[in-house]
Amino acid sequence: MSLRRETRAVHPPQPDITGSRPITMPIYQTSGFAFDDPAVFADALSRPDGAFAYGRYANPTVRALESAVADLEGGVAGIATGSGMGAVNCALLGLLGPGDHLVAQKSLYGGTAAMINELAERFGVSVTYVSGDDPDAFRAAVRSRTRVLYLETLSNPLNHVADLPGMCAAARELGVVSVVDNTYATPMLCRPIEHGADIVVHSTTKYMSGHTDVVGGLTVHADEELWRRVWRFSVELGATADPFASWLTLRGLQTLPLRMERHCANARHLATRLAAHPAVAEVHWPGLPGHPSYELAAKLLPDFGGVLAFDLAGGRAAGERFMKAVRLALLAPSLGGVETLVMHPATTSHRTLSAEELARHGIGEGTVRIAVGIEHPEDLWADLSQALTG
Ligand SMILES: Cc1ncc(COP(=O)(O)O)c(C=O)c1O
Repeated sequence: MSLRRETRAVHPPQPDITGSRPITMPIYQTSGFAFDDPAVFADALSRPDGAFAYGRYANPTVRALESAVADLEGGVAGIATGSGMGAVNCALLGLLGPGDHLVAQKSLYGGTAAMINELAERFGVSVTYVSGDDPDAFRAAVRSRTRVLYLETLSNPLNHVADLPGMCAAARELGVVSVVDNTYATPMLCRPIEHGADIVVHSTTKYMSGHTDVVGGLTVHADEELWRRVWRFSVELGATADPFASWLTLRGLQTLPLRMERHCANARHLATRLAAHPAVAEVHWPGLPGHPSYELAAKLLPDFGGVLAFDLAGGRAAGERFMKAVRLALLAPSLGGVETLVMHPATTSHRTLSAEELARHGIGEGTVRIAVGIEHPEDLWADLSQALTG
């Protein structure tokens, strides 16, 4: 067919790449796919493992990320979302309805805690909080309409470790779906599905992408039926991940094992030094023998994560002084990137919580969180110690 220039501009030829293949996953920057067969097109929109059709349903670059993380977590499949909260909401809203009951760990990331408050106040979901390491308390909390148990492997910001084997086994036995946020631990330190979890959620904004240049999230599923159910809901909710963000995250994943080793080693270095400093009242890092989760952490995890929190003896005023005085560490939100970041949870990540809720989470006015980066540990300690004494 001889086509005019206007038409050729819209339909340029595409290179044939048979005979070789790209080494890295290409970015499929397309919102849709064209079909030869209408029946294949119709089928593609009805399931997550059909042909690629429309970007909100599936995309090859996004699928590559979903498969990579599902593989690292030991799950059957994943669903990538536009943010970690997108993943948390796909799991919670996809599984819960009015009149249902949710059992959640007492100490959680502030955004998740705020969403659970919304579920209770506006969506008719009742909530009971239990300690993440108390299967008996969970069993006692379960009712006929309990649908979900929600845990964090390492809680944000105080690093309480969930007793995943005990809690997930109880959930299975009682027919409750267990959802575990594994953002802090990553599959390098813990694979909740191996301990009986049904769904793992991640903010891939953090360690997975690792370079403070992506916002993303992911659910990983132990079970295909729940994967299909949550996928259907994620398509309706429109929580879809973007191909470029997924590509950056895939690139970050390649160095996740190396970065996690350094994050954990640096956190150990700083936690030990902070614990011995007179200006510090308490350090919350589960690799330290005084931490309430120390024994459970030592049983469950090969290392203890790259985020630590500490309480300054001088309370809020000391916290504010410290955060103004750091030079190398940046006063910034988030965690899991190569740079060290500090923040004050009570006025930032957990700002929507009441004083009573902050107390339930164990967050004080003088609590400071450090997301430890991969810089040289002595440079980091030099910065923190000048800020503590300054
Ligand atoms: C443990 C945890 N889960 C979920 C989230 C939400 O992730 P995002 O900010 O990518 O939506 C965060 C964000 O800080 C987090 O720390």
